[in-house]
Amino acid sequence: MSHPAVVAIDGPAGAGKSTISRRVAERLGFLYIDTGAMYRCVALAASRGGLNLDDEAAVTGLAESVRIHFSARCKEVFLDGEDVTQAIREPRVSDAASRVSKVPGVRQAMVEEQRRIASGEPVVMEGRDIGTVVFPQAQVKIFLTAEPMERARRRALEMEAKGLSADVDEIARQIEERDYRDANRSDSPMVQAPDAVRLDTSNLSLDEVEQAILGIAADKLKISVEGVR
Ligand code: DC
Repeated sequence: MSHPAVVAIDGPAGAGKSTISRRVAERLGFLYIDTGAMYRCVALAASRGGLNLDDEAAVTGLAESVRIHFSARCKEVFLDGEDVTQAIREPRVSDAASRVSKVPGVRQAMVEEQRRIASGEPVVMEGRDIGTVVFPQAQVKIFLTAEPMERARRRALEMEAKGLSADVDEIARQIEERDYRDANRSDSPMVQAPDAVRLDTSNLSLDEVEQAILGIAADKLKISVEGVR
């Protein structure tokens, strides 16, 4: 039996993956899964437990034991039953997530769970390694990116919208550090799959990016999507 459809959306921090993936999933009627939120949950649990993030055995044991689940449409994220949707977005959790995601045992536990979630229904899954490692056979693969300063600017706007203060240069520095770590780790580095479509969103509106991805999905999955030709 063939596997339910997978739309894999990978790319660096701040490229707009979450917003776009959520919208695309809604239009297609697919489940949306934010895999970065899963690594963030492991990072949050590790920080709260006072674990040394370089202790691979301890962090792996934790990743294997935590329960992570999402509410409908991935709006809320739960860690061992607690709603951590806001807590996992703090900058120090972003940094810790990038560090724990280097650990092979952590990746193995998360990938297993990601494959389980997508085994029963079609998904739009976003992350860094979805089209390369989690679902190399995904029917639709997108690598979403944007100029580094544009990504930092978008993150700053998001933070300001939440009433938080934001320094674009500092955000740019943090994003650069995280991208470097994500792209240079030995296990499943962030890299564009050879058969992924690269979309640079620097000069595109959200609607334009959404339409472009829906067009590619309709073509590859041989389905019709309302409003997309
Ligand atoms: O997408 P995000 O910023 O929420 O991801 C948080 C961190 O998790 C990011 O620094 C890289 C890591 N990550 C990963 O290694 N693999 C994924 N599939 C998703 C995220």
